[in-house]
Amino acid sequence: MKALILAGGAGTRLRPITHTRAKQLVPVANKPILYYGLEAIADAGIKQVGIVVGDTADEVMAAVGDGSEWGLVVTYLPQEAPLGLAHAVLIAREFLGQDDFVMYLGDNLLKQSLKDFVDRFEDDRLRARAPTLDAGHDSGPCAQILLKPVPDPHRFGVAELGADGSVIRLLEKPADPPSNLALVGVYLFDARIHDAVAAIEPSSRGELEITDAIQWLVDQGLRVRTEVLDGWWIDTGKLTPLLEANRLILETLERRVDGEVDGESDIDGRVVIEQGARVVRSRIRGPVVIGAGTTVADSFIGPFSAIGRRCVIDGSEVEHSVILDDCLVVGAGRLEDSLLGHHVEVKRSERRPKATRLMVGDHCSVDLQ
Ligand code: G1P
Repeated sequence: MKALILAGGAGTRLRPITHTRAKQLVPVANKPILYYGLEAIADAGIKQVGIVVGDTADEVMAAVGDGSEWGLVVTYLPQEAPLGLAHAVLIAREFLGQDDFVMYLGDNLLKQSLKDFVDRFEDDRLRARAPTLDAGHDSGPCAQILLKPVPDPHRFGVAELGADGSVIRLLEKPADPPSNLALVGVYLFDARIHDAVAAIEPSSRGELEITDAIQWLVDQGLRVRTEVLDGWWIDTGKLTPLLEANRLILETLERRVDGEVDGESDIDGRVVIEQGARVVRSRIRGPVVIGAGTTVADSFIGPFSAIGRRCVIDGSEVEHSVILDDCLVVGAGRLEDSLLGHHVEVKRSERRPKATRLMVGDHCSVDLQ
């Protein structure tokens, strides 16, 4: 079993953050989203990983390196343009060979362990190859898709299932969805997917859709296994789901205070304060993570906030927000539901606004008047 991670794409729905950074490297709970996928793949016992990269290749390569940090062996596969998920499989043909593989969209986050999904797919395939079957006949699944009921299925690939859970049809971002079951960005395939991606035509958005390739498998009479997820799944490509992912991951943190906290500060609940961070005359109410080298002074950091490294938060309140490295937030009033890129400065003049909602890219400066 190999893994193919997709880490290209323009990340248009997270602009302006993604003007200057790969969407898969935006941090959630102070860790790049892509690292969660790499951890899940390593945990599933997979070693050989191909990462499909596009315009942000240099940044992804600098962040992941040779993969040895996770015990993985990483091969980078450049995609000349974001021509679709099935196109990514097409260009990975040589790397994948005849092996089964997990395809993992680098901006997706799942609660449940990938290992369980992989094990159930492989078990089903082994069982189908039992000696009682006609020689040469393989009734095992050639693919596995994960599905999750969502309130806005038109934003995703959507599956229509029969009463027995078999796939009737799959549609990419249908205007009139036949069900509320969205296709999660984690797929399992055997080598038959290569015939499928070679057979399909680009969609109306000009991409080779993996959804169409899986539909092709169904049309050939091949079995596509389905599972409906119990745990949460987040496609982090937009601000609201990104903050939601941050909230869900922060809730799983173990309290750890390695930085300095003065006697006038109060630390409450699941809080991680990294080494070299300083908290002075402030109240931190978890779940919160504060990165190394950051100073929080005369401030309140409220639940579901992730503050990056080397930031200064002074005389301000921050809640339910993600602040990337090297930001300066001084006398800013109260920041809520906000995402600040790197090197952002938020300062205010005397007339203090009551609350501020921001989505600000790297190197911006916001002066609240
Ligand atoms: C892609 C797939 C879609 C799937 C989604 C999951 O959409 O095409 O079928 O539901 O990922 O994140 P995209 O992110 O390319 O819009």
